[in-house]
Amino acid sequence: MHTAASTPTRALAGHQIQPLGLGCMGMSEFYGAHDDAESLATLHAAHQLGVRHFDTADTYGFGHNEELLGRFLRGLSSAQRAELVVATKFGIVRQPGQYERRIDNTAAYIRSAAEASLRRLGVECIDLYYCHRRNPEVPIEDMMGALADLVRAGKIGAIGLSEVSEETLRAAHAVHPVAAVQSEYSLWERGAEARVLPATRELGAAFVAYSPLGRAFLTNQPPADNSLAADDFRRALPRFQGEAGQANQQLHTSMAAMAAELDLPVATIALAWVLQKQPHVLPIPGTRRQRHLAQNLAASTVVLPMPVMQRLDSLFAAGSVQGARYPDAGWAGVETR
Ligand SMILES: NC(=O)c1ccc[n+]([C@@H]2O[C@H](COP(=O)([O-])OP(=O)(O)OC[C@H]3O[C@@H](n4cnc5c(N)ncnc54)[C@H](OP(=O)(O)O)[C@@H]3O)[C@@H](O)[C@H]2O)c1
Repeated sequence: MHTAASTPTRALAGHQIQPLGLGCMGMSEFYGAHDDAESLATLHAAHQLGVRHFDTADTYGFGHNEELLGRFLRGLSSAQRAELVVATKFGIVRQPGQYERRIDNTAAYIRSAAEASLRRLGVECIDLYYCHRRNPEVPIEDMMGALADLVRAGKIGAIGLSEVSEETLRAAHAVHPVAAVQSEYSLWERGAEARVLPATRELGAAFVAYSPLGRAFLTNQPPADNSLAADDFRRALPRFQGEAGQANQQLHTSMAAMAAELDLPVATIALAWVLQKQPHVLPIPGTRRQRHLAQNLAASTVVLPMPVMQRLDSLFAAGSVQGARYPDAGWAGVETR
């Protein structure tokens, strides 16, 4: 049912790298307990397995995630470090312990946030620096101007935007090249297909797919609401809760049956589907655990036959997934609703 292929590289922020990166967010926040020693071991294991793209943000664990990545980076030689794309983000401002946020895109804020991220990561240049969320009160020209200044100063290598509309992407790109757009994209979140995926491809920007495993829904161990830790963010996500959550379980059952037929883990199929959709997509599955890395990275050597792609497309066709992808507070600065 599937054939193996060599792993073709994809372009991101001036590097040709293996297409699957590592999302580090869960190592600090959102998906229950985390352990720094286990996370560091996973980071090193991912590197040994060829991962060259590591994704974080200043808001993940209120700096903890960048500091953790900094500890990992300090264990590498400068030649190893030079091969990596280390990406971080600014713009979401929260009080410790709170999910509610305000969005800051002002030039002064960007300058101070970049300095703080450089310090926590322990690097001289952030390879890819994203605006995490857009605040339209700051004109796009001003925000991109502030980021372009950071490029000229050598503090950031490339500019990215997260969860922006096609209009914002085009306006930003007219000021300074946008190297990457990062948005949620997976079998159960396909909104980017209509406009942002084609626009990024046309403009020569990479599309970085976040939550490509549907926050663990698209794995062999989908989270059940009664098994989630009290502080697990998925308790607040409509897609995992109540009637929507139960309806979505049916989708998982069908997907798991397909995976069993193909003799592949659900996660491998979910990531292979994302990779096969467009040649400029780089997914960043998140895991704290070495045991999940192999399943996830296997996706880059799996080719799903067209009939399998079509079955997945129709199983997860528009309208099939129940519930919003964010709670109300999570929509701040998201232009792709
Ligand atoms: N730009 C944005 O606004 C934004 C928003 C959200 C996320 N992100 C980025 O995208 C990255 C990835 O997204 P995400 O972490 O939200 O979601 P994800 O990658 O869709 O799923 C992560 C979840 O899946 C579990 N998992 C991973 N591999 C597994 C496997 N093979 N089998 C079973 N469970 C598995 C992880 O648990 P374990 O840790 O136990 O493996 C974790 O609970 C984040 O780390 C972050 O860097 C960006």
